[in-house]
Amino acid sequence: MNENRPNTDEVYYPSQEVIAQARVKDWDALAKKAHADLQGFWAAEAEELEWYRKWNKVLDDSQKPFYKWFAGAQCNIIHNALDRHQKTWRRNKLSLVWVGEKGDVRTYSYYALNRDVCKFANVLKAMGVRKGDRVTIYMPRVPEIVIAMLAAAKIGAIHNVVYGGFSVEALQQRIEDSESKVVVTADGGFMNGKIVELKKTVDDAVKRSPSVETVIVVQRTAHEVRMEPGRDYWYHDLMKLPLAQATCATEVMDSHEPLFVLYTSGTTGKPKGLIHGHGGYMTGVYSTLKYVFDIKDEDRYWCAADPGWITGHSYIVYGPLLLGATTFMYEGSPTYPYPNRWWNLVEKYGISILYTAPTAIRGLMRFGESWPNRHDLSTLRLLGSVGEPINPEAWKWYYRVIGKGRCPIMDTWWQTETGMFMITPTPVVPLKPGSGTRPFFGQQAEILDEQGKPVADGEEGFLVLTRPWPAMAMTIYRDPERYVKQYWSQYPGKYMAGDSAKRDKDGYFWVIGRTDDVIKVSGYRLGTAEIESVLVAHPAVAEAAVIGLPHEVKGNAIHCYCLLRGGHKPSPELEQELKDHVAKQLGPIVRPEKVTIVDSLPKTRSGKIMRRVLKARAQGLPEGDVSTLEE
Ligand code: PRX
Repeated sequence: MNENRPNTDEVYYPSQEVIAQARVKDWDALAKKAHADLQGFWAAEAEELEWYRKWNKVLDDSQKPFYKWFAGAQCNIIHNALDRHQKTWRRNKLSLVWVGEKGDVRTYSYYALNRDVCKFANVLKAMGVRKGDRVTIYMPRVPEIVIAMLAAAKIGAIHNVVYGGFSVEALQQRIEDSESKVVVTADGGFMNGKIVELKKTVDDAVKRSPSVETVIVVQRTAHEVRMEPGRDYWYHDLMKLPLAQATCATEVMDSHEPLFVLYTSGTTGKPKGLIHGHGGYMTGVYSTLKYVFDIKDEDRYWCAADPGWITGHSYIVYGPLLLGATTFMYEGSPTYPYPNRWWNLVEKYGISILYTAPTAIRGLMRFGESWPNRHDLSTLRLLGSVGEPINPEAWKWYYRVIGKGRCPIMDTWWQTETGMFMITPTPVVPLKPGSGTRPFFGQQAEILDEQGKPVADGEEGFLVLTRPWPAMAMTIYRDPERYVKQYWSQYPGKYMAGDSAKRDKDGYFWVIGRTDDVIKVSGYRLGTAEIESVLVAHPAVAEAAVIGLPHEVKGNAIHCYCLLRGGHKPSPELEQELKDHVAKQLGPIVRPEKVTIVDSLPKTRSGKIMRRVLKARAQGLPEGDVSTLEE
C-alpha cells in the first residue's frame, strides 16, 4: 500500500484513556441531539457565556443568506474573553505564555492581559478611534498583537489584521479597502535569526493610504527605524502616558455588530474582507474549541499558527481566552536555530495540545526522528492539523513520532469564512488518516455535482454546507452582493466552500483541494489573480498566468508563466528578477517557485487564460475538454 494515498478503511480508535478523559464520551448521542434541534444546541452553548442582554431569537433567518444569530442580544466578546475572568480565580491564571525566537519569555496572567488591553484601548480612544472604526494591525508574533486586537474589540472598533509575512502591495490594499485610521505595527520582528522590516513596509504602504492618521510602533528589534513626526508614535511611550489608564469600559455591542474584518484571497484580484461579528462568532469558537480540543484548566495549549490568519484569530486569541485557558505563543521559526526548536518548547513548557499545519509537519519530518526523540514529549495529549489536506504519511509520522501513538489527531476542516471548525472529529471519534471525519455537532455537509445533485459515496464533487452555523462570516466588507454571489448562488440556499471532496461509505469526508483560483501554499491561501496583477505591473511583462503545482513540503508551489512585452528578451536573470518582484510586492511567502517565459498562453476564444490546461501540461496529464481552446 502506498503510504501517501488515503485508505478509507484504515481506522485508528481512541484508547480507553482518551475516552475516560473526554468531555463528550458519546459522540453519536450529542450529534443526534444537535441535529434534531440545531437552535437548541447553540442556545445551550451560548448560555455558558455572559451576555449584557439575551437574544429574543436564536436564529433570525428572515434575510437569507444574511443569517442573524442571537438576534436582539447584546454582548462583547471581550467581556467573555477577559472581563468575566477578573471576577474569579482565573484572574491569577496565566492567559498567555510567550517565547521569542531569541529565547526571551513573557507571561501574562488574565489580570495582566486585561490591564494592558485596557491601557491600549484608552490609547486607541485618545487617537480618535471610535466604535465601528477600522484599525489595521501588521505585526510579528509578539504579545502586543494580541493586546492590540483585544483592545480594538473592547472599544467596538473593527480590527483588520494583516499577516506580517505579506508585503507592501498586499498591506496597502487591505489598509485602503478597510479605510483604517490607525495602523499598529512594530519596528521589526525576528524570524530565522533575521529582522523582518515591518516598519519599512508600513511606511511604503501608508504613503499611498490617505485614511491613515496614526501609526503606533511596538519596539521589538530596537534597530534604527524612521519615525514620522506627527504620525508615528512608540507604543511604549503611549502606554506610559496618564491617559493610558488601567481600566476601560467594554463597549456594549449588538450581537451581529462587526468584530473584525479579515481579508482572504478569492477568485478575483481584489482580496475579500470577510466580516465576523461578536455574538455568533464568540459562541461558535468557544463551543468548537471546547469540544474538539477538549480544553481543561490544566492544559497548556499551543496553536502554532500566526494570529494574522483566521486560525490565529479563532484559536490562538479568542477561543482559548473565552475558555479561560492558557495559550502558548512562539515568535519564530520551527527550525531555528535547530530543527528541535518546537520539541524543545513542548518539553520545556509542558505543552499538552499542539495544533499546527501539515506543511510544518512535513517540513519537520524531513529532518528525521532523532530531533523529536531527544525530547520528552509525554505532556502531549492531543494533536491537531489544519489548513490543507494532510497526507497519510505525514499524519502517521505525527501520530507515531510526536504523539507516540497516544494522542488523537484532530484534523479540522474550516475556512476564514466559516470562522470555526466545520468538519472535525472530537477526541473519541475513530480517525482515518487524511480525513476530517464528520461535520461538527448540528452541522451537515454534502458533495454535489455541477448541477447540484449529490454524487455517490466515493466520488469527487463540490463540498457544500447545508445548515447555518453561528460563526459564519456575516458578509464581505462593503460588498454584500459579492458575498451572495460567491458563496450562496451556485446552489441556492447552500454554502459553497470552494473545495472538492469525497465522502466515504462511513460518512467520513475527504477534502481534496480548492476548485477555484486559490492556491494553498504551505497552508497559506493565495489568489492567482493577485500574483498575476503584480507580475503584469512589471515593465517586462505583458501577460501572466499563475498556477499551483504539487510540492513535497509546501503542498502546492507557485508557478508563473509570463509573456514578455516587445523589446524584452527571456533570460535566467529576468526570471529571477520576476520572482524577486513578486516577493517584494506581496511578501516572501508569495515568492514563486518557478517563472517560465513563454511565447503564448492557452486561451479560450473569448480570451480567458485556461490555467487548467497549463496545469495539465506541466504535470504531463491529459488536457481534458479543450474544445474552447484557441491557439
Ligand atoms: O481548501 C481548504 C483548506 O483551506 C481552505 C481555507 O483556507 P483559509 O480560509 O485560509 O483557512 C485556513 C484555516 C482554517 C479550505 O477551503 N483547508 C483548511 N483546513 C483543511 C483544509 N483542507 C483539508 N483539510 C483541512 N483540515
